[in-house]
Amino acid sequence: MKNKYIDLIEQTFEFPQAEFKLIDDELYFYDVPLLDIIKQYGTPLKITYLPKISSQIQRAKRLFNVAMAKVDYQGEYHYCYCTKSSHFSFVMEEALKNDIHIETSSAFDINLVNELYEQGKISKDVHIICNGFKRPQYIENIAELINNGFVNTIPILDNKEEVDLLETNVTGKCQIGMRIASEEEPMFEFYTSRLGIRYNDIVDFYIKRIKRSKFEVKMLHFFINTGIRDTAHYWNELSKAVNVYCDLKKVCPSLTCLNIGGGFPFRNSLAFSYDYEYISEEIVAQIQQVCNARGIVEPDIFTEFGSFTVAESGATLFSIINQKQQNDRELWYMIDSSFMTTLPDTWGINQRYIMLAINNWDHEYQRVFLGGLTCDSQDFYNSEGRSNAVFLPKLHLDKPQYIGFFNTGAYQESLGGYGGIQHCLTPAPKHILIDRDENGEYFTKLFAKEQSHKSMLKILGY
Ligand SMILES: Cc1ncc(COP(=O)(O)O)c(C=O)c1O
Repeated sequence: MKNKYIDLIEQTFEFPQAEFKLIDDELYFYDVPLLDIIKQYGTPLKITYLPKISSQIQRAKRLFNVAMAKVDYQGEYHYCYCTKSSHFSFVMEEALKNDIHIETSSAFDINLVNELYEQGKISKDVHIICNGFKRPQYIENIAELINNGFVNTIPILDNKEEVDLLETNVTGKCQIGMRIASEEEPMFEFYTSRLGIRYNDIVDFYIKRIKRSKFEVKMLHFFINTGIRDTAHYWNELSKAVNVYCDLKKVCPSLTCLNIGGGFPFRNSLAFSYDYEYISEEIVAQIQQVCNARGIVEPDIFTEFGSFTVAESGATLFSIINQKQQNDRELWYMIDSSFMTTLPDTWGINQRYIMLAINNWDHEYQRVFLGGLTCDSQDFYNSEGRSNAVFLPKLHLDKPQYIGFFNTGAYQESLGGYGGIQHCLTPAPKHILIDRDENGEYFTKLFAKEQSHKSMLKILGY
């Protein structure tokens, strides 16, 4: 009878996959034996596999450059890393090995840029695309960058008032961009995004306020918060944005760049399927088509992929520390941490990740509910991408059970308030980095120990 965990996985998905394989009943992630890692560092544990960050950046560049070559596109592709998806120094350092530009979203991001410059990791000609609603400190920091010679800093106006603030703070001439407020998906609670300037106002605002100022509009920015998806809504919004680009270009010759934001998805299920080649080719072709029809030179295309760049470098590993049969049908496996604090998207937006047992694949499987350690009734995980249930190996008293949540490398630490106060004072897990040496052998490095009670009590004023 095929009732083992390995049977379930092999029958439900294509397995093994490029990222995951099983050797001697133990799971490997990018050819790294996870049980060895757990033996060395314990659980709960966050890991970051650094080479994946570079390979994703190279992949994005390849996708767009190939798409452009196919249609003989006249503009260039520029990859920007969106820092908010993970600000950690090890992520930035890995990303910066790939000749990239940077997108920022708040005042402290500019301090981060300055720090990278002081450490010699970036030069002053890197493009710094400054998005977000700008409070005075953010404006001051941006202006300081520009005044200090970061010549490719492009503040993107999120609202019309920002131009007045910039004017007061920037001493010389400066390039800027404008963000279009896109229409939300039909099922969303609002019609139009609160971020950016209304479609219909862009050209008029340029003519009345910017044209004769010291600012040169270089970039039009547009981003759909539901991401880049093969839906009528996305293609319709893209086409509208390119048409606004063409309208603006007619009166604003300095405009040369279209920024399509982030929104490439990451693999959140073993059955994930997304045709990145088709989507990039379609984006490039559609921009070209509209521009050709309107007699406008094709723009350089900028992207700001966050999740796509870092999510798949991360994993979060837990032990099952107990099981609780709470009624005939509900069997809980308790993890040694909390979902709400370590993977807040599972709670906040019902994000699903690839979740797999790390050992005991030869055990029978059963349906379980996964419970976190906080007292909060919402601290659980009980469904997968394509099924309303979670299945894991049956526990044997003599064998520990480890599980992994994979592709968790984007946004979770910043949303969870890494290193701060956590629900029920649950400490942030230990975090390690995995890299490869020149012979291709993997090695590990401790980035952070498990959060200590001292650090939390200090924040709390004790
Ligand atoms: C302006 C902008 N660019 C890029 C991103 C990154 O999006 P993603 O992580 O989906 O690629 C975001 C996300 O909120 C954003 O607001």
